[in-house]
Amino acid sequence: MRVGVLTGGGDCPGLNAVIRAVVRKGVAEYGMEFLGFCDGWRGPLEDDVTELGIAQVRGILPRGGTILGSSRTNPFAVEDGVEKIKHNLASHGCEALVAIGGEDTLGVATQLADLGVNVVGVPKTIDNDLSGTDFTFGFDTAVNIAMEAIDRLHTTAESHHRVLVVEVMGRHAGWIALHCGLAGGANIILIPERPFDLEKVCAQVESRFATRYSPIIVVAEGAVPKEGTLSLVEGEPDAFGHVRLGGIGEALAKAIEDRTGKEARAVTLGHVQRGGTPTAFDRWLATRFGLHAAQAVHEQAFGSMVALRGTEIVRVPLSEGTGELKTVRPELYEEAEVLFG
Ligand code: F6P
Repeated sequence: MRVGVLTGGGDCPGLNAVIRAVVRKGVAEYGMEFLGFCDGWRGPLEDDVTELGIAQVRGILPRGGTILGSSRTNPFAVEDGVEKIKHNLASHGCEALVAIGGEDTLGVATQLADLGVNVVGVPKTIDNDLSGTDFTFGFDTAVNIAMEAIDRLHTTAESHHRVLVVEVMGRHAGWIALHCGLAGGANIILIPERPFDLEKVCAQVESRFATRYSPIIVVAEGAVPKEGTLSLVEGEPDAFGHVRLGGIGEALAKAIEDRTGKEARAVTLGHVQRGGTPTAFDRWLATRFGLHAAQAVHEQAFGSMVALRGTEIVRVPLSEGTGELKTVRPELYEEAEVLFG
């Protein structure tokens, strides 16, 4: 059996570990052959392929990024996109496809599966906002990178009696902010699920200084102030209609400085959170996802996605992973609030 593999959307540490595991298990156990499609859905759409065998996956387990490249191409936004994909898969004799991606890439996979393409999904995103799985790989690495940054910012904030605002990724969900904020001992955590009150944030900043400590505020890039309290600049939308975010950290630092008179600085961690080598947890999860994805293809469990439940890898319908985003539940945020201010 010939199987295509692609990685789409924002890259994250662990993608190569999945590719390696799919190929190693597929070849060794099922005698499969593989073909790499380059740059997410652009590959099968434009017939851009690359060799993918045991030799190509040797040594890539600890490497960040993806050897297949990635993009945010949406075949449903291209004329005859689906027909082109079906034609190109058939021309290479690809009977199945392993799509490794987040909300958008697997959203496309869900629609293609409904249209008769044999797809198995593997969930990835540093944002950890895919439903159907307890965790996505890449998230743990991003949280650890952000936590290390917070640890470092504590000491410089204290030396200069400054507020330090750390902007982390998280477009719709505050998982990274919540986890790194708790792990790093942040004094305030702001997430997209909870519009924040600027006055309350400033009061928490003041109370922190009153106890002779310098506040660290972790803000998710998608966090929003309560209406009318702070204006933000929006960027251009991508092929899936997502607006490019960024800037809340700077805007918040300035607003805090203006209102409290305390010096404030912003640090945007940006793509540092997505680069470099995966943590042991992400390598473990990505490898197991890859092994189970190869098995799912062999058993023709098309239209499904591998997922983590507790410590078990299970299969769920693709639609379960992409139907609704997994956001931070109110009680999880409220649990952390006692540590604020
Ligand atoms: O989807 C993962 C993610 O890292 C988001 O947290 C972030 O908003 C987005 O990708 C950034 O995308 P890009 O790298 O295309 O600017």
